[in-house]
Amino acid sequence: MNEPQAKQYCGLSEDSVWHYAELFGTPLFLIHQEQIQHQFHSLRQALPSQFAIHYSVKANPAPGVISQLLQLGAGLEIASAGEFNLAMQAGASAQQIIFAGPCKSRAELQLVVEQGIGQIHLESFEEIELISEIALAQQKVVSVAVRVNPLAQAAAGSMRMGGLPSPFGFDEEILESVLRRVEVAAGLNLIGIHQFAATQVLNADDLLRQWTHAIRLGHKFEEILNRPPTVIDVGGGLGIPLYAQDNPLDLHALAAGCKTLPSIPLNCQMVVEPGRFLLGPAGIYICKIAAVKRSREKLFLICDGGMHHHLAASGNLGQVIKRDYPVTVLERSNSGAEMQNAQICGPLCTPLDVLARSVQVQNPAVGDLVVVGQSGAYASTASPMHFLGHPAAAEVLLRTDSTTQILRTRGTSKNLVPCYSTES
Ligand SMILES: Cc1ncc(COP(=O)(O)O)c(C=O)c1O
Repeated sequence: MNEPQAKQYCGLSEDSVWHYAELFGTPLFLIHQEQIQHQFHSLRQALPSQFAIHYSVKANPAPGVISQLLQLGAGLEIASAGEFNLAMQAGASAQQIIFAGPCKSRAELQLVVEQGIGQIHLESFEEIELISEIALAQQKVVSVAVRVNPLAQAAAGSMRMGGLPSPFGFDEEILESVLRRVEVAAGLNLIGIHQFAATQVLNADDLLRQWTHAIRLGHKFEEILNRPPTVIDVGGGLGIPLYAQDNPLDLHALAAGCKTLPSIPLNCQMVVEPGRFLLGPAGIYICKIAAVKRSREKLFLICDGGMHHHLAASGNLGQVIKRDYPVTVLERSNSGAEMQNAQICGPLCTPLDVLARSVQVQNPAVGDLVVVGQSGAYASTASPMHFLGHPAAAEVLLRTDSTTQILRTRGTSKNLVPCYSTES
């Protein structure tokens, strides 16, 4: 059985959760601006000034969220023309944007080059030729960095993206030939190195080991090309406590460890691209109990929301061992009843649709709320929202002045997944 998790409502009181659930209906994502600010400022404080923070838009691409990060001073990292357009809608300038991803289409590259993208991170030989061709045709010079799949087992974290055979970036073993090829490619300005080894890293030493390796790659760049890189991008990967035994990333240890990193080449900008860390703790997912069922002694709470909105909480987004997110049932009447365990299920007709396997409840009833914490990142954006034809949940931003902004309206049976609101 899982350990019960601490209650997490992205800084809101239970009364506020009830209030917003009644105001906007369920299922609902609430994103709390105050918590975005808190996450950003605490990371900003921990990192040396040479580190720029680029928000990884894939974590939550709502323009109303992106604009919060821009206002705080973040740049952006995107993975598609769709995300590029959302970023521009949020008020970004193309220069603030980094474009990464293993398969960028000609049309996407033409669009971002035309608009003056800040950097593109190269991930294949085909891409080198394609971007060079597009740059020449548009008579532009495009700043590019080479994404490296590191040799060292620098990777740690829940989803490793480096140190193993990988579709992302170029293997470190061929770095020299890649750099030499890019250096002479027409229309490309080779500015540096990008390395992203793993996501959901909770140990500061693991992150520092990866960052050390990236800086060493920067020195290799200098040895090979006889000039220093102007950018070393260490990727995202900063973790948040998702499961019962998780401890938060120790930002004091990270700050102290940054002082011991190898020397950074002169005038070189370090870039970190967090997604989960900035947005995860800022959001909750709220759904409502529609049925309370006992089957062969086991208690099931069946809700109006589930894995089609929040695949990660269901344990089906890359998790090998199924563990529960911080899930709480807000019961209107719990007087005197004994604690019991319940499984929280969604409305889909698949046994995969489980929001929590073991949650402590007393007297759960239809209409009570289920709240999933740490749900601001990789929730609706990483879920099979069309699966079985249930409409998407509404998403709402709570501003620090207590006003609200609809990030995405609730879907309907005719329009399952409405677009994000154009308001930024
Ligand atoms: C290139 C790149 N940068 C940044 C991120 C953000 O990672 P995280 O949310 O773990 O910080 C990702 C996530 O997959 C990514 O692929």
